[in-house]
Order: sequence, then structure tokens, then C-alpha cells
Amino acid sequence: MPPLPPDPSWHHDAIIYQLHVKAFRDSNRDGYGDFRGLLEKLDYIADLGVTAVWLLPFYPSPLKDDGYDIADYCGVHPSYGSLEDVVAFLDAAHARGLRVITELVINHTSDQHPWFQRARLAPKGSAERDFYVWTDDPNKYAGTRIIFTDTESSNWAWDPTAQQFYWHRFFAHQPDLNFDNPAVLEAVLDAMRFWLRLGVDGLRLDAIPYLVEREGTSCENLPETHAVLKKLRAVLDAEFPARIFLAEANQWPSDVRPYFGDGDECHMAFHFPVMPRMYMAVAREDRTPIVEIMAQTPPIPSQCQWAIFLRNHDELTLEMVTDDERDYMYNAYAKDPRMRVNVGIRRRLAPLMDNGRDEIELMHALLMSLPGSPVLYYGDEIGMGDNIYLGDRNGVRTPMQWSADRNAGFSTAPTAALYFPVIADPPYGYQTVNVEAQESTVTSLLQWVRAIVRLRRKYRAFGRGTFEPLDPANRRVLAFLRRWDHEVILCVNNLARHAQYVELDLCEFEGWSAMELWSGQAFPTIGSNPYLLTMSGRDFLWFRLMPPGGPERLGAIAPVGA
Ligand code: GLC
Repeated sequence: MPPLPPDPSWHHDAIIYQLHVKAFRDSNRDGYGDFRGLLEKLDYIADLGVTAVWLLPFYPSPLKDDGYDIADYCGVHPSYGSLEDVVAFLDAAHARGLRVITELVINHTSDQHPWFQRARLAPKGSAERDFYVWTDDPNKYAGTRIIFTDTESSNWAWDPTAQQFYWHRFFAHQPDLNFDNPAVLEAVLDAMRFWLRLGVDGLRLDAIPYLVEREGTSCENLPETHAVLKKLRAVLDAEFPARIFLAEANQWPSDVRPYFGDGDECHMAFHFPVMPRMYMAVAREDRTPIVEIMAQTPPIPSQCQWAIFLRNHDELTLEMVTDDERDYMYNAYAKDPRMRVNVGIRRRLAPLMDNGRDEIELMHALLMSLPGSPVLYYGDEIGMGDNIYLGDRNGVRTPMQWSADRNAGFSTAPTAALYFPVIADPPYGYQTVNVEAQESTVTSLLQWVRAIVRLRRKYRAFGRGTFEPLDPANRRVLAFLRRWDHEVILCVNNLARHAQYVELDLCEFEGWSAMELWSGQAFPTIGSNPYLLTMSGRDFLWFRLMPPGGPERLGAIAPVGA
């Protein structure tokens, strides 16, 4: 099935819904979600108004890292279905105008992957052994940090069969592939082509900063790693136009910038550092963390786009904050040690916001209006809770809550057979927090999320526009402009829990009208004095600013990615 009509800039206007097939809907009563179940729920996803779906890994795997430990790049884990099911899903998604992003996890494989099994048995120094990174001296690459600090004490693990140590940046059961071996790149390209030929529209490149190792460095973001990415991109451009790469590079903005290259590496990259700072700004009732990180964010090539998110399947990572900021975040959002994992917080959005509806809405308003394409994590649109008694990051990966029926309508399997228990305790239990209840309630979070997604889609400035922060005296208010083509959007967010007023310097727009976007209501025309707004706690307002005589009077700002 051919993908959707080629549009090389689709990622600029994308709104992405992230989900795990395992967690969404079980069609065959085995307690695991599957592609057929997902197909049943595709209309729900389309109704959200999102434009793309990102599927977490669904490949054959021992599932020791929820599928990021891949044992076969070109297959489907039998619990989730078959290749035919994937193709049927891709077709159905495309028929609804939804694009599909899947995972290309190339930094490492599972130790069960045949490549690794072969490598262990092959002679030292052979091409087969060299599919992975081996040493006799575990002091090699000593300058490299450990990522999974809770479980790993070294990036080397001893393999008794090979009688050597192998390199792993993540769990010890995830040996890193060796990109100094040209055969590895060829094998990875084959896997990439396999999914793109089936019609996948985009690939999230997992853990991309760590592909290549060099002595005396941090083994992160090396020029050799960028060279590998450029090779992947060249093949993508030559063979699969209008498909995209989305980089997972959990790094500071200046280190992420090179992953866009000169428009010849990744089309998109997650903006990791802004994520914890949205939470920090709300907890501190101060815009400074967001404004500062945006100021440190370098411009990116016009054909590229950030991806921003509030929560995902991993911990709320605190790697890209200072030590003081980390302490503050733990204290504000993870008082119970069970809420912490590695260098981060394993909680969902609603519990992080103490289930405060205004807070959850404000966070979504930031997500939908800051630069980049928003990524929504399944379940957050209904305010799902988490289970901090499950290990690792599994507390945020529980079954989707569809209804108050048994197993939350996720599965008709025996309850004990579910891959994880559904959330059952108040206030997040499936008996009350579920899709069915929220579909029949006009004021529900789900209905509200649908509305904000639709509103955002009306204005391309959100996906493509400039970001111009204003500097009002009241630091509890974050206000910024987004301009693109004939659109000028003003976003004003009251980060404080109590009412605030703010005076905005909008003298550039004297004589312009301001229309509030949710209500369509005309606010006072902008005059020569500061523009005064009063806002209730955690409130936000979006305005379209228009010159007298209408938007045509505005000089168009060059469209990006056209
Ligand atoms: C990425 C994934 C994470 C996984 C890790 C190792 O960071 O997001 O879930 O554990 O890679 O594969």
C-alpha cells in the first residue's frame, strides 16, 4: 500500500499520538494488546484529531526492556500479531489520513539476537564477532557515563562464551552494535528498508547519540555517529521521499542541533530539555526555566522540526537539568522514592499534576503552543494514573482504560492474565477514568483535549511559526508570539495557582484587533498603552492578532519546509 500523498513537510504540522500495541486493546483474549485490537480502536485515535501514530517496538524480543531489546528486526512479536496485521494496520491508518512512525533501534540489539549469538561463537577479530563492540580491557572508554544507573555499574559485561567483555550503553542484555564494521550499517539499512517498503512514514531513531565509541571521549554525539546518520539519511532520501527520521537524543539543545545536520540527518528531534522545565515553571510559578531553555535553543534548518512532549513511556528524565533543578524536581514531583527511577521520575501527567484539571489543561496548552510538533502519550488524554509498585518504567505502561467493564474494556482475558494490572484505585481507577465515560461527558478531559487539538490544527503558526517571548514584569506569566505567513498568534499562560494580571508590551501592534481563539470573542483593540489582561489561576489565553483591514495586510513570513 503506498503511503499517503507525498508531502515532504508533513512533520511540521504533525500531532503525534504515542502508544504501545501491547497496552491498547487485546483482541484475542491473551492479556496482551495486539494489532487487531489496535485496528478496532483506530477511529478513536483519528477522532482525537491527531495526524500521526508512533508505535513503540513490536518486534520479536525477550521483552526485558519492553521490546527495545530486539531479537529480529524484520518480524512481529507473536503476542502482538503478524506482519499481515501490521500491513492491515498501516493501510487502515493511511485510509484515515494518519501517518505511522515506528522504531528503528540500532544502537543495540537483544543478546538473543542471532547476530549476537553468532558473534559470541565466532573467532576474535572476525567480521561476525565484530558486529558488536568487544574488549579484553574493561577500562576502555572509561570517560563514558552510565545511563541506567539503577541497574548497571559498568558499560562493559563479561561474556563467558566469547571470553571477552562487550559494550552496552543500556541494560547488560542489550549489546551495542559496532558501526565501525561496514557490514553492520548494511544490515541496519536492510531493516530500515524493510519497514519503509511496507509503508511506514517515519522512523524514530532510538538512542542515537551512542552509535560510535572513541577513546578519550564521552562516546556521545561523535562526528563518526553523525557520519552514520548521514548515510542512513542519504538512502532514505534516495529511495523513500517524504519519509522522516525522528531523533531520540536526550542531550542539551546545542548537542541536539547537529542531529538535524544541514538538513541531511534527522527531520525531527525531541526537545528533551524543555520538557522538565515546563513542570518546573508550573511548580515554581515562574516562566524563567522555559524562557531560558528556549533562548539556549539554536535555530534549526527550515526543513526540520522539534518534537515536544509532556510524558512518554520512559521516566521524566532529569539528565538535562542542573543538580539544583534536579533536587527541586524530585522534591516537587517525586517525594516517594518509588516514584524515582534512574535519573528521573516515573509518573504520568495527571498524577504529576495531582489530578488538577486546570494544571493538566495548562500543561497541554504549553505542549500545543510551544515550538515543535506535539507528541501525546496514550492515556494522558483521559488523565490516566500510574502504578508506582510496578518495576522499572512499567508503572506508566498499564492497559488503556476504555470503559468500566472488566479489565477496563482492554481485554476479556482472565484478569490474572493481563500483562500488567489495570489501574483500579481511586481517583484514577478505570471504573471512573475511562474513554466511555468521558465520551458521554461534554466537560471531560478527553473532549477538551480533542478541542485543543482541533484548535491547534486551524493555525499553522503553531507548527511553523516563530517563537518570540515577551518580557512582562510579572514573571508568573509566560507570553509569546508565534508568527507565520498571515498569522500572528499571541499565547499567554498564567503559571501561578492564583489570579494574576499582566501588562504586555504590544506597541508593535497598535490599532490591531485581538480575537480570543477558543471563544472567537473580540478583545479590546490594542492601543498605545500596555495591553492589560487579568487571568485566573493556571489559566491560558490564545489570541489571533489582526491588523486593521484583515490579515492580508500582513506581509507574509516565508513558509518553512515548503
Ligand atoms: C530509549 C527508549 C527506552 C529504552 C532505551 C534503551 O531510551 O526510549 O525505553 O529503554 O532506549 O533501548
